[in-house]
Amino acid sequence: PVAARVTDLLGRMTVEEKVGQMLQLDAREGVEDHILRTHVGSILHTSPALVREAHDVTDRTRLRIPLLIGEDCIHGHSFFEGATIFPTQLGMAATWSPALVEKMARATAVEVAATGIHWTFSPVLCIARDLRWGRVNETFGEDPHLIGELASAAVRGYQGDGLSDPTAILATAKHFAGYSETQGGRDASEADISRRKLRSWFLPPFERVAHEGCRTFMLGYQTTDGVPITVNDWLLTDVLRREWGYAGMLITDWDNVGRMVWEQKVQPDIAHAAAAAVKAGNDMVMTTPQFFEGALAAIDQGLLKESELDNAVSHILTLKFELGLFEDRRRPDPARIAAVVGSHQDLNLEVTRRSLVLLRNDGVLPLPADDAAPRRVAVVGPLADDAQTQLGDWAGSSGQVDWLPDGQPRAMITTVLDGLRAAVPAGWQVTHARGADILTLEPDPAGEFFPDGQPRPPVVVPAAPDAALIAEAVAAAQEADYVVAVVGDRIELVGEGRSTATLELVGGQVALLDALAATGKPLVVVLLASKPLVLPPSALDAAALVWAANPGMTGGTALAELLLGRIEPSGRLPISFARHAGQQPTYYNQIRGQHGDRYADLTQAPAFAFGEGLSYTTVEYTDLVVERPELTASDVVRARVTLTNTGARPALETVQVYVCDLVTSASWAEHELKAFRQVAVAPGASVTVPLELPASACTIVDAHGGRIVEPGDFELRVGRSSRPADLLRTRFTLR
Ligand code: IFM
Repeated sequence: PVAARVTDLLGRMTVEEKVGQMLQLDAREGVEDHILRTHVGSILHTSPALVREAHDVTDRTRLRIPLLIGEDCIHGHSFFEGATIFPTQLGMAATWSPALVEKMARATAVEVAATGIHWTFSPVLCIARDLRWGRVNETFGEDPHLIGELASAAVRGYQGDGLSDPTAILATAKHFAGYSETQGGRDASEADISRRKLRSWFLPPFERVAHEGCRTFMLGYQTTDGVPITVNDWLLTDVLRREWGYAGMLITDWDNVGRMVWEQKVQPDIAHAAAAAVKAGNDMVMTTPQFFEGALAAIDQGLLKESELDNAVSHILTLKFELGLFEDRRRPDPARIAAVVGSHQDLNLEVTRRSLVLLRNDGVLPLPADDAAPRRVAVVGPLADDAQTQLGDWAGSSGQVDWLPDGQPRAMITTVLDGLRAAVPAGWQVTHARGADILTLEPDPAGEFFPDGQPRPPVVVPAAPDAALIAEAVAAAQEADYVVAVVGDRIELVGEGRSTATLELVGGQVALLDALAATGKPLVVVLLASKPLVLPPSALDAAALVWAANPGMTGGTALAELLLGRIEPSGRLPISFARHAGQQPTYYNQIRGQHGDRYADLTQAPAFAFGEGLSYTTVEYTDLVVERPELTASDVVRARVTLTNTGARPALETVQVYVCDLVTSASWAEHELKAFRQVAVAPGASVTVPLELPASACTIVDAHGGRIVEPGDFELRVGRSSRPADLLRTRFTLR
């Protein structure tokens, strides 16, 4: 019946209504005009009041076609005050837990749906490459297998049991595809990327979620080989629609159609740009208001036929019928909002606990919370009590759209200082000193507004080390038994259009860490960094180092629990940490190089590798055995490995399974992650862990861009991280 209803409605729509249906516009610019004059099919960046107004206006239109309400609910409901804000996507990836990501997405969908939103622009499937890119925090890291598993879990969580469920929201796989292959990390630069490279790493996660049933895909911004992604026929039609059979909706990114005229300059005017975008298979056009007149002019000028709009409009209407919006607009529901928005803090805390990655520990952690002696802890650093930075990008009540998000209620956020103050045993003393500033913001000398009227973001000026602030922090350290230094990056250095030229700690932070290290007090560095940063020796050699990404509202509680040993560290890196910004890129599965593939003055080995992370115990891997070492590509590779917890505390170990194809017809990565399992191991216990992966997953991409299994010898490599020294090896052969 949905197909019949779509055909019927399409047959009754005017050409203006069809063109308008393909438009998504910014609700803050006035919904009445969007709906009555432009006949928009969708709006974004709303509030409940705007959503209600928009539905009321729609009810006055001829066909009363309901609007789709979209929003960037990336790690919780970013645009709604009081909503649960989880760790950023990169933080969630450090859990290596599809189950937790699915629960996060389900909880987010419940909160988001109550506020009248039908569609989230999440998850991000971009592969992290150059760490200087401002949107690394939005990714699930650098590995296509891990991204595919976590993104599929997110899609299942958002879309729930089917679109007719009132708590289901549409998921979006973005940004299709290759957007993260930046030059120098600069956002939306040209992506110099071959089809073989796309097939090797960038496309597999998208193919995975297409098959998972993700109902919408969003483009990136980039051009490749001179072709804007908006009109890349090969990707949009040959790969997405024909090869993968994707039947969902495809939306551009922000003003992609206009950019072809005003930025990329590959179309002479908006009529040509609109025609090209429709012909390339875009269904919905995000925030190019000129598309309305442009597409109509294109039809008048014979650049486009009205019938060429029908596919796109059908994709949009199909979703609206499946969501049941013609019967029920799913308006914001005050009772549900009161009951569910912000109600997922227990789950949030569970996710955050699992997202923390212990990178170094000389034994100082956990702090001795169980012995009788009272201790003094100096909590220092510019981020020790910084609620906004803790939430990360897309987390203000107005999120990315304002340059400085105005934030969620402070009372809902536990900073590291709050968390430690609340959690230390009675009699312990917690002191605080800021120690350093990170940056100041100054108006852009080029003016307050861009020529198009958009506000120009302020310019970031790194703060100079401040001797008085450092002296205050050193004095606090000298009075303490332990120093917890909370450093990292700030929201102004993170996000779309906010890539960084370097990866170093900005402002007075390095001088602060150096001064703290010089006191000789046990120094625990907590890194609240949206993405991997380059750390100075005073952090790398500190007594302990924990990476917490942007840990969300409950970050301070989870970190305090970890430092005091109330939980076990179990996060693992979804991304490598560089030693120097000049090493970019540092992802582990690069094509094999020659000459040791290193610089004369620096190893190419990362500071911390993909998959790394410590526990408060040690787990030994032994006895890796493949059950049948001779198989065919249609078999399942079955193996087992023994884990022994040789310490005194429980472990949640992430067993990582990599495959090395020993000889390949085209140059390939040394090894790639193909499976992982999380296993609890009690102190002193040994566990035999069964592992399996389809032999058909042991592929490479050949020189012609085909993904194939090449018969021959392989190594199964199993262990605690992607570092070769951390992996046991055994061989198998595919005939
Ligand atoms: O969803 C985002 C996208 O990731 C980047 N550009 C703007 C979109 C809508 O806010």
